[in-house]
Amino acid sequence: MFVVLVVSAVLIALYVLKENYEYWKKRGVPGPKPKFIVGNLGQSFLMKKSPFEVFTDIYNQYPDTPIVGVYRSSTPSLIIRDPDFIREITGKSFDHFHENDLRIEKEIDPLIGRNPFFLRGQEWKTVRAQLTPAFTSGKMKLVYPHLEDTSQRISKFIDSQPNATNGQGYEAKELCKRYTLNNVASCAFGLEGKCFEEDNSEFQQIAQQFMTPETWSTVKIFLMSLFPFLTNFISVKFTAKSVEEKVTNIVSQTLRYRERNNVVRNDYLHILMQLKETSKDYDFTDVDVTAHAAGFIADGYESSSVVMSFLLYELANNPDVQSKLRQEIDESFAKHSNTMPYEAIQDMTYLDAVLSESLRMHPPTFAVAKRCTKRFTYMPNNTDVISRPVVIEEGTPIIFPSYGLQHDPQYFDDPERFRPERFIGANKDKIKKYTFMPFGEGPRTCLGQRFGVLQIKIGVVYILKNYQLLVNKKTQRPLKYNPMYFLTSPVGGLWIDFKKIK
Ligand code: HEM
Repeated sequence: MFVVLVVSAVLIALYVLKENYEYWKKRGVPGPKPKFIVGNLGQSFLMKKSPFEVFTDIYNQYPDTPIVGVYRSSTPSLIIRDPDFIREITGKSFDHFHENDLRIEKEIDPLIGRNPFFLRGQEWKTVRAQLTPAFTSGKMKLVYPHLEDTSQRISKFIDSQPNATNGQGYEAKELCKRYTLNNVASCAFGLEGKCFEEDNSEFQQIAQQFMTPETWSTVKIFLMSLFPFLTNFISVKFTAKSVEEKVTNIVSQTLRYRERNNVVRNDYLHILMQLKETSKDYDFTDVDVTAHAAGFIADGYESSSVVMSFLLYELANNPDVQSKLRQEIDESFAKHSNTMPYEAIQDMTYLDAVLSESLRMHPPTFAVAKRCTKRFTYMPNNTDVISRPVVIEEGTPIIFPSYGLQHDPQYFDDPERFRPERFIGANKDKIKKYTFMPFGEGPRTCLGQRFGVLQIKIGVVYILKNYQLLVNKKTQRPLKYNPMYFLTSPVGGLWIDFKKIK
């Protein structure tokens, strides 16, 4: 009897799974044939490519369809290829798609769970509105001296690393991580990170631990990326309790010191303390202050260092662009009596174009994932491929394939060529909206974009002022990406030679 029950249950499960794999076909949405259990993520199960890299391949395989139906293991998900539909999802129909497709609950993980990225509904709205004023251009101007100070110290660090200057090369992300973490320590925690002076300073250790979940949590996150339905059943605690305590201690010690000594410093921690005192609609506690300062580690350090390291690599790889940018930098220094005021950085159009082009070629994530929060009916306009309206059910994961769009020759001529001119003047105006979205789009767009861009620009200015960059042969080309890392991370690293400019 028991055997019969087990066999029946297995047969029913197999039938349901098989039916499930007909989901998009029944709705008339094209897409690659799924394989049993793994869906379209076979390569991710074999740890060859991350799920988002697989979706980029699928984006390229379906050039004529506005949406592609895929299966993340057994979960039907939708890749949005049509930029106009992305516009609709992030704009007019945002209330149908307002959540990110990754869940970390603040009740389980009080620090990461309070990051706006993971908040939902009204709570997200309130916190987002509270934090937004911390990132205005006025506030950026206030933190700029801290960023410039760290930038000016990069060359002392490079000079202290024999391999950086003797032809052995220095890994760009390692350099950029030290730089951006010093900025986070200074701007968000009011501390000296000592990331240039020490190889493994206390702050570096804490940041590293903060960004490295415990093994069991890593396994859970990996499983959730393969089986999205698990997000409804399992919860993740990203930060270990011991790390949480360390971060909380740093923040409370700094705050106590400031209170006792009447120290007012123009930084993010000060803004957070002011929020705690003035917040009305939301009970902004000490945990919130710590969580948002810690959010800088998660958001400000890792993503910015990825972007900055690719930018250094592209400059080394494109000597003409590098010379032109150095000329702009030198002229700006000359114009401002050998200083680099905040306004001067804003005026550098070529620097801005070079960063945009690097972000186009190397966005820090292959895709951005959302979740349908309210049933939505997609009305096709390309009747050849999709002939009838498609109902998108609540809970369906939605994927914006940023990398695919940004490398699509339909939108970017000769897309594998590094050509900053695309982002200058009339060329820039011609770029189709919603095809270039390294910071996301709509109300949930990156909150720290201004900070990220500013710290990268000023850092690159001081590096190019002092060094000529060359690609070291240790860089493995063509670039391949680590399938297990959530951001684009080239296997073997990006190695640069820094030749001092006399
Ligand atoms: C160049 C560096 C950076 C890049 C490329 C980047 C990119 C992104 C992207 C693609 C998103 C998702 C947007 C979406 O869902 O539509 C995002 C969200 C976010 N980013 Fe960034 N980011 C960067 C730096 C930063 C920095 C420095 C901070 C803060 C200090 C930050 C804070 C955030 C936050 C809080 C969110 C969640 C916003 C929300 O859901 O309301 N980011 N970022």
